[in-house]
Amino acid sequence: MAPFADLEAFLAPGGPTRVIAHRGCSGSAPENTLAAFRAAAQVGADMVELDVQPSRDGAVMVFHDEALDRTTDGRGPLAARTLAELRALDAGSWFDARFAGERIPTLAEALAALGPTLPVNVEVKPEAVDDRVEGGFVARVVDELRAAGFVERTLLSSFDSRALAQARALEPGLRRSQLYDASAHAGVPPAELLGRHGARTLSLAARQVRPGVVADVHAAGGLVLVYTVNELAAARRLAGRGVDGVFTDHPERLLAGLRAGGAPGA
Ligand code: G3P
Ligand code: MG
Repeated sequence: MAPFADLEAFLAPGGPTRVIAHRGCSGSAPENTLAAFRAAAQVGADMVELDVQPSRDGAVMVFHDEALDRTTDGRGPLAARTLAELRALDAGSWFDARFAGERIPTLAEALAALGPTLPVNVEVKPEAVDDRVEGGFVARVVDELRAAGFVERTLLSSFDSRALAQARALEPGLRRSQLYDASAHAGVPPAELLGRHGARTLSLAARQVRPGVVADVHAAGGLVLVYTVNELAAARRLAGRGVDGVFTDHPERLLAGLRAGGAPGA
């Protein structure tokens, strides 16, 4: 049985190391596609992380890079294309011919691929954040989450704290996670960073896990999540330092190792 019954259980202190599928199972399927999300549900990941940004005509698209070039057969900025134009692109062949025909999903399509219970971390790309609360991109994301019945299942995150502030104003019950921005947040104590916008977790790059950070976040009642951790030994080391969860391109690998036979970090 899954160790976390719901998102609130996932966010409660203690428990096994959380294994978060980074852009879905992006080590074995093209990132941020329905194939990658379905795989994450199938292998039993504890959460799926995905990235969102707007098309030219305002659709909420699931996509990581600013440009289409690396992960599709399109060229140039995603934000310059309409939903209809984006739908025509192939987002799978670059990864493997087996995935030819995978599309860039909308947020609504991605959420529908997660099955009945899997929590999701929706990361609002900083370039997508604007100053508007009503009518801004974060408001559109919140509308999509409401329409899909996902407010309770979503951890909304961003490097840009404005996204958290706006989400809180629009939908206070939507749980939030602060991604640590080394320049914007330099010198800010972790507890203060969490407290500013009522974030439940602080997400850090593995190299940013400095002595004291984990204890400080825990003292503030939060969790520490670390990206991107693809090797079991690294996940075990981080778990040994008190890290609560890891984003990984290989959830199947880490789940097999961390949950096998009550090993450390299991
Ligand atoms: O949310 C963790 C991680 O996804 C942040 O970085 O660039 O992979 O979206 P990135
Ligand atoms: Mg991300």
